[in-house]
Amino acid sequence: MDVVTDPVRMQELALEGRRRGEKSALVPTMGFLHEGHLSLVRLAKERAENVVLSSFVNPAQFGPQEDLDRYPRSVERDLELCEQEGVSVVFMPEAGTMYAEDASVKIEENALSRGLCGGSRPVHFSGVLTVVAKLFLLAQPDLAIFGEKDAQQLRLIRRMVRDLNFPIEIVPGPIVREADGLAMSSRNSNLSVEERAQAIVLRRSLLAVEKAVAKGERRVEILRDIVTQHLAEAPLGQLDYLSFVDDETLAPIEDLGDQPALAALAVQFPNARLIDNLTLDF
Ligand code: PAJ
Repeated sequence: MDVVTDPVRMQELALEGRRRGEKSALVPTMGFLHEGHLSLVRLAKERAENVVLSSFVNPAQFGPQEDLDRYPRSVERDLELCEQEGVSVVFMPEAGTMYAEDASVKIEENALSRGLCGGSRPVHFSGVLTVVAKLFLLAQPDLAIFGEKDAQQLRLIRRMVRDLNFPIEIVPGPIVREADGLAMSSRNSNLSVEERAQAIVLRRSLLAVEKAVAKGERRVEILRDIVTQHLAEAPLGQLDYLSFVDDETLAPIEDLGDQPALAALAVQFPNARLIDNLTLDF
């Protein structure tokens, strides 16, 4: 396994592989790897001979009041896990090597990024899309894997690939959860014991929505009440947003119809902001 820290070297390696006709898959991450990330690596391995995992805590996607300084890190452990999983290249650019000091070009998206997480994190998605575009150009993958856990991010990346004609297939990976249903996230490690116990309300409330929908409920107002009732059981968490949107356009919907919908929420706990989502497909 190669560990590459220099972006220029990463691009050279990738172009060499491309010239040899090798197929490669990219798994972009911010490190502190867990089973969710590793499930994406396994999907990548099924599809390509070379798997590149990037690990970069991207400052550009954190707002000024956000948790960049507290984002968990575990470089040695991450490298061991990558080795075990058969990753070919770990790309871990050092801070300061990814962006020129006077970098002045970035990617903006003006529709799908407005609501959900974009509503409360205004610079977030521009930071994500810019770094992902750079990673695509550095790692030159044939395909790239993204988790459904970050539903809005996945849709935005598909949109960027469509609108800017990146010759890259975007492959989604299902959400991997802890035994009690909490979606795995690097940020879970920042939760206090009490917060961790209450964090299950995200999944619980979405499962209750799923159950109500299975019984025929279509009114978003009623589905919202179901979530709110569950969230009352987590007094340490404050609802950031709860949205019922069209699964593709992410436009808010009044009542569920025949089109696939996405229910997504974010809850701010004192030590971490958590997200979860559920696709409602009829
Ligand atoms: P990070 O939060 O580290 O997540 C990296 C990838 O793992 C993303 O595609 C995310 O959706 C996926 N992932 C995280 N938790 C998951 C889970 N429980 N089950 C399945 N997949 C999961 O997302 C980012 O980093 C960054 O925004 C990035 C795309 C790397 C750009 O900086």
